[in-house]
Amino acid sequence: MTTTSLRPTGAPEIEQLPEPPLRRSREIQGNILSAFNKDYMAFRYVRFPDGAGGRGWLSVMLNTVSVTATVEDFNEEFSLSRRAYGQDPALIATWVGVSLTYQGLLQVAREPEKVKKELAPFESFVKGAAGQAASLGDDGTSAPEHWQFGSDRTGVHAVLIVAADTEEALNEKLRNIAAADSAHGVTLVHQDDGRTLTGDLRGHEHFGYKDGISQPGVKDFHREDRENPGFRDNRPGSTLVEPGEFVFGHKSESGAPPEAPKWLDNGSLQVVRRLAQDVPGWNEAVKREAGKFQPHPISEERLGACLVGRKKDGTPLAQGENPVTGVGPERNDFTYANDGQGKQTPCAAHIRRSHPRHFESTQKHRVMRRGIPYGPAYTGGNPDAERGLMFVCYGTSLERQFEFLQRAWSNNPNFVPGDPGSPNGIDKVTGTIRQGGSGSPDAHIELADGEKGTVSMNRFVQTTGAVYAFTPSISTLRRL
Ligand code: HEM
Repeated sequence: MTTTSLRPTGAPEIEQLPEPPLRRSREIQGNILSAFNKDYMAFRYVRFPDGAGGRGWLSVMLNTVSVTATVEDFNEEFSLSRRAYGQDPALIATWVGVSLTYQGLLQVAREPEKVKKELAPFESFVKGAAGQAASLGDDGTSAPEHWQFGSDRTGVHAVLIVAADTEEALNEKLRNIAAADSAHGVTLVHQDDGRTLTGDLRGHEHFGYKDGISQPGVKDFHREDRENPGFRDNRPGSTLVEPGEFVFGHKSESGAPPEAPKWLDNGSLQVVRRLAQDVPGWNEAVKREAGKFQPHPISEERLGACLVGRKKDGTPLAQGENPVTGVGPERNDFTYANDGQGKQTPCAAHIRRSHPRHFESTQKHRVMRRGIPYGPAYTGGNPDAERGLMFVCYGTSLERQFEFLQRAWSNNPNFVPGDPGSPNGIDKVTGTIRQGGSGSPDAHIELADGEKGTVSMNRFVQTTGAVYAFTPSISTLRRL
């Protein structure tokens, strides 16, 4: 297959480069390296009755799980065809991914004591999302006791992601899965229904910002142009990182994970967080805080973009550096090297705190994000409807990747993703000062034209469910 239509006009030729081997993987489950990218996604959190029930259920799931090669072929075909989404029956597919929590792995393991010993170095995984909640700022109304799944009370053994192009296809798959659940005594703890927003909000999250633009590029999976490092065959951006950052058993940036047992190979650690968004609350606070800027109020659009780091249409506040790829709202080839004081992209901005591009160590802390919104878009008339982001990410270290982003960068007022002493503050999208923690929850912003302000607003994203799970390879699933 060629990749012609994936290249911006004028970009250098990349077809002569060989097919990256991981694209052909039938061992790595889909959605880790190759996104499911569907408009309808169900997240089912289930409990096994016992080991035999869990193993029986997993053997049914094994037959329906989607692998990287299949998902990647489809995605490539789809981007080449340019046909209308969901209209062409040849381009409709339903994907399934299955992951097991630590408790779930122990349930189905034939030698649970051995598994316990092998997984002991993976401390956060062993403690689980609920066990790690307090240290990540999931307290107060975000505390596990209020979660819809993943707490001690609502503990889960497995997470199933079912992704489809149409609601009918999704429901049909879910009917088969529900039949497998009852045949094996598996109970559904909770289900979330992810839905891509429609109309002008397509591809955007509930606060209104275009999402899913910046993702790490992966060696052996993406091609990078030798003439033009940073230009990848699907998205321009930073240089490629080693596949071992996202999939066990491969070379990694940060060295081998702690004594990882072989059965983790070609698997990945999955974080699922149900993040409720208070959209009217956010809108009102942004408007209020923008009005307090000195010497003149700034517009709410401008302050919102400062807090995210991109405008609603995706345009980054940072300037692009590449004359070919550095244009358009989805551009991604920028760093903050020329903006140490945060005058263009404030140091408090969500994308700057979660990927401080000009820091060398940043590549050790990348995550593969696979989120989708849930709940209806805010129209003004439905302020109380439940809505938010099903945040999903993959990596091989919870501590170094997801937890680091949340704890050491987003929540931490002492982390300055710019010159020391620059105007700074926690991430106002997802950051929080945990109870009893020190430091100010405010964000200080000083813009190039002299406007400045201190943004004091509550947290408008709350955690309402969370799970850490392991997404095994096909061989490991088969051997369970
Ligand atoms: C990027 C929104 C939660 C990590 C973005 C972008 C938006 C966004 C609009 C810019 C689009 C893009 O670059 O792809 C949100 C919202 C969240 C949320 C509304 C919660 C409701 C999180 C969480 C994390 C996270 C929990 C990790 C702890 C990232 C990262 C990027 C990103 C790493 C890419 C930054 C870059 O490479 O420039 N997010 N996000 N986000 N977000 Fe979030």
